[in-house]
Amino acid sequence: MGLIVVSNREPYAPRRGGDGGLHWVPSIGGLTAALDPALQHAGGTWIAWGEELPGVADVDLPQGNPRYRLKRVRLTDAEVRDFYHGFSNRALWPMSHYFIERTRYQASQWRTYVDVNRRFAQAAVESYREGDLIWVHDYQLALVPRLIREALPDARIGFFWHIPWPSSEVFRTLPWDHELLDGLLGADLIGMHTPEYVAHFLSACRRVLGAEVEGNTVRWQGRSSRVVDRPIGIEVDTYEELAASPEVEEAADRIRRTLQTQILLGVDRLDYTKGIPERLEAFDTFLGRHPEARGRVTLLQIAVPSREQVESYRQLRARVEGLVGRINGKHTEGGWSPIQYIYRGVPREELVAHYRAADVMLVTPLRDGLNLVAKEFTACSADGVLILSRFAGAADELPEAVQVNPYNPEGLAGALTRALSMPLEEKKARLARLRERLRQSDLRTWADGFVAEIAGT
Ligand code: ADP
Ligand code: G6P
Repeated sequence: MGLIVVSNREPYAPRRGGDGGLHWVPSIGGLTAALDPALQHAGGTWIAWGEELPGVADVDLPQGNPRYRLKRVRLTDAEVRDFYHGFSNRALWPMSHYFIERTRYQASQWRTYVDVNRRFAQAAVESYREGDLIWVHDYQLALVPRLIREALPDARIGFFWHIPWPSSEVFRTLPWDHELLDGLLGADLIGMHTPEYVAHFLSACRRVLGAEVEGNTVRWQGRSSRVVDRPIGIEVDTYEELAASPEVEEAADRIRRTLQTQILLGVDRLDYTKGIPERLEAFDTFLGRHPEARGRVTLLQIAVPSREQVESYRQLRARVEGLVGRINGKHTEGGWSPIQYIYRGVPREELVAHYRAADVMLVTPLRDGLNLVAKEFTACSADGVLILSRFAGAADELPEAVQVNPYNPEGLAGALTRALSMPLEEKKARLARLRERLRQSDLRTWADGFVAEIAGT
């Protein structure tokens, strides 16, 4: 029995080095961060869209220590534009995160979405051997379960939706609401991060399809799908070990010595759902209220470029850069600047060193499916404080974080004050409880558990 994982994003992207050699660089984002270690453990096949690079085909990964096979689906430039930048990231992404005003619902892009989903389904069907389990991922591939089901009526198919499932009032703005649900219900098992997302999904099945819903089971087209909340965990031990390593400790010390202040940290893909401008503005408010904090606190924002072909993301970048400039221009004095802005992805050791060096971690999305950064920081920090948006899916699981409403700059500034002055013992006690929760459901538990549930359907 083999495992076939299907996602849009590939876990590593090929790059030609100066020496002409081929290097596979890890992709950045929650989905691949979770699935790569999971599939390394389980072994199997991963089907994903392969970025075009001459001479590069299917490959065994990770490079140097291969554990699974990556089968690369090729898309034309026009397909990438309409399926990925278009329907996935201008329709489904903003809709699911409650940004209806940013959605563009275009029939031509929908048609490409259908065609491309068909190609992914075909690739899965071609790889399938009797008894295999198929696990499809995320909003880019919502039609794939149904399309596989048509070819393989008896296959066991699981699906995980990694982003929020919105209220059915919002979901019903999608002109292809019926088709999307029908596509997903080709799966035997559908997973989401929180009970709320599951409840919204079940409500959409009732209202949009008129499907029969009993408990967590949806009956549709003569078949049943079970819908469950299964929030992703992280590899707690791996992060803990890395955080305690001498190299990381040294790097963390270097960061502290360079800044010479208390450190507030933000780590995100540069996405409008992450609440970065709101965070910067709250910090500005905080500095206005606390002149004594000048020269004593720095906000370090590490933002990795994301989806730059989409207009909203380009606008966001300009807005963030403008805010960083304005706030630094307003407050900089005597060699101290309040915001340090890094616009790139950083390697994992460096990221962990930043988690370790931070006094306060700011995870303040306006809406987020789960948010792994919050969990990674919790596993790495020795005595930091996590400030966490109530609109991150992880909020229910992390009640000892200082929880905030990111839409309220005054409240966010107040949370900063509280976090920066929290007694050491309280910080440690909160982290210990949070860490305990992470351990109860780590990545291995999540992945093995979900695969076992698909097998059991
Ligand atoms: P999303 O799924 O929206 O990308 P998550 O917080 O769930 O958000 O996951 C983001 C993943 O990407 C995490 O594993 C995090 O460590 C990584 N990441 C985010 N920003 C950066 C960055 N600037 N450099 C390196 N890794 C990053
Ligand atoms: C989120 C989505 C993933 C996606 C990731 C990075 O985690 O749920 O499906 O892969 O963001 O975004 P990208 O568009 O670069 O794949």
